[in-house]
Amino acid sequence: MLLIELFENWTRAAAFAALLLVLSIGVYRWIHPKKCAKKFPTMAPTGTLKTIAALASADNPWFIFRTAQSIGVSVFRLPLQFLWGPMFVVVGDAKLARTILADKKTERPASITASSDYITNGARSFASTNGPFWHVRRKGVTPAFSSSHVQRMNAVAVAKCDKWIEERLKLLIDKGKSFDVGDEMLDMLLVAVCETAFEYTISPDEVKMFKHDMDIVLLEFLFKALFQPWRRVLGRVLPAHRRARLAATRIQNLSFKIIEAYKKLDNPTEGTIMNLIMCNQAYENDAERAADITMMLFVGHDTTANTLAFTLKELAQNPQQQEALRRSIREDDLQAPHQLESVRNTIRESMRLHPVSAAGTMRVTGKDFVTMDGKLIPAGSITQMAYMIMMRDPSVFGKDYDQFIPARWEKATPEMNQAFLPFGAGRQNCVGQSLANAEVNCILPRIISQFELTVDEPGQSECFYSVKLVNCKLRAKPISQS
Ligand code: HEM
Repeated sequence: MLLIELFENWTRAAAFAALLLVLSIGVYRWIHPKKCAKKFPTMAPTGTLKTIAALASADNPWFIFRTAQSIGVSVFRLPLQFLWGPMFVVVGDAKLARTILADKKTERPASITASSDYITNGARSFASTNGPFWHVRRKGVTPAFSSSHVQRMNAVAVAKCDKWIEERLKLLIDKGKSFDVGDEMLDMLLVAVCETAFEYTISPDEVKMFKHDMDIVLLEFLFKALFQPWRRVLGRVLPAHRRARLAATRIQNLSFKIIEAYKKLDNPTEGTIMNLIMCNQAYENDAERAADITMMLFVGHDTTANTLAFTLKELAQNPQQQEALRRSIREDDLQAPHQLESVRNTIRESMRLHPVSAAGTMRVTGKDFVTMDGKLIPAGSITQMAYMIMMRDPSVFGKDYDQFIPARWEKATPEMNQAFLPFGAGRQNCVGQSLANAEVNCILPRIISQFELTVDEPGQSECFYSVKLVNCKLRAKPISQS
């Protein structure tokens, strides 16, 4: 009665009591994590602050992988659950990951993916959203990846590769220089995607600006500010945050410029990504269009370029595999290399070891899920699909799981195929995978059939949103001279 009097009416008293209950459960869970832990997946032993620091670093997917190895389970919790907030679960079990990704009520955690809206200067892009907003845009752009458009886009990417070989690689070889494989692939594919998807000829200065500014915004908004939210509040006084905001504006201006150039075209090609975005009535203004253009520009080149870079590096490090692949490619095959099992297996193996979206796929569970060992992942949990754990699982890929062995795919088991998830799965999987596969399958044999590659400087893998091969220098030698 005292409570009711205190709060004047029943509704307020009930709301206060509910709040107290939730708080007490939260505090109880905070004080007695072990008692609550039994039915949930194992908790990672790293403390909260250490976990946040690791997730916000370039080491993100390897930290997750090492944690799984150290505790010996592929599904585990991270100590990121604050009081009554959602549980944070790493899912490195491929079967469970596929089940979660296929669930209709399960979707992206918009509260987390919304941080990528900073990259698009505040406008929402479809890759960060759910529901009708996401659906109408995803559906709108899907026809741009029909087989005829993929063939058209791929032909340009292959032509860019030939041009790069003639005008850049051969020049570097003549000067006795090595090349930064990550950087070169990024430049080549950014130019290609601009031309094919947006009918825009990007200048060398714009390429430089886009790559530089993207590095700044991804680091600040998708890593630092995501795991250190106070950066957003203190934004205006933090130089790095202010720099990132300026970079996001410059990127948005480039997308606006692409829109203006498109509006001036006399005969735009029907069905390109740009054409479908411009004609889609769901977009309310050009800022929304610019957001999807920025996102497509980025994912349309960065992922494919780094996949190619990792594959070329692996081959350069493994001369026998490189020679075997080269021998398997005949002149005729360059017209339809995706039909070559050796090329397909090489790329699969490289994607398995270096999933460029290793840190990217998160979902908030729409219902309860149960792990293989009977642990509960309650509805509303944030799950991170840990592709690196699945694709380096010794029980599926054997003791040599960390070795680059393309031939292992000649006798792929159902478990291997199940664990192979470089493009995600379910409704919100990669819309551009047909293009990515076509480009990688065609460009790789063109380079390998003409040049012998060796490693000058191995560089390193870094993860800021996607996994990148940084500072890796390869040396190429024309085959006729070897
Ligand atoms: C080897 C190359 C690529 C890899 C490994 C890759 C991987 C992925 C993954 C794992 C996702 C799922 C993210 C999630 O579930 O939340 C994704 C989404 C996406 N990818 Fe790719 N991708 C590649 C190339 C491309 C290309 C070439 C394009 C476009 C030209 C593209 C466009 C997209 C888009 C738009 C989404 C978001 C889909 C949606 O929200 O419905 N990707 N990609």
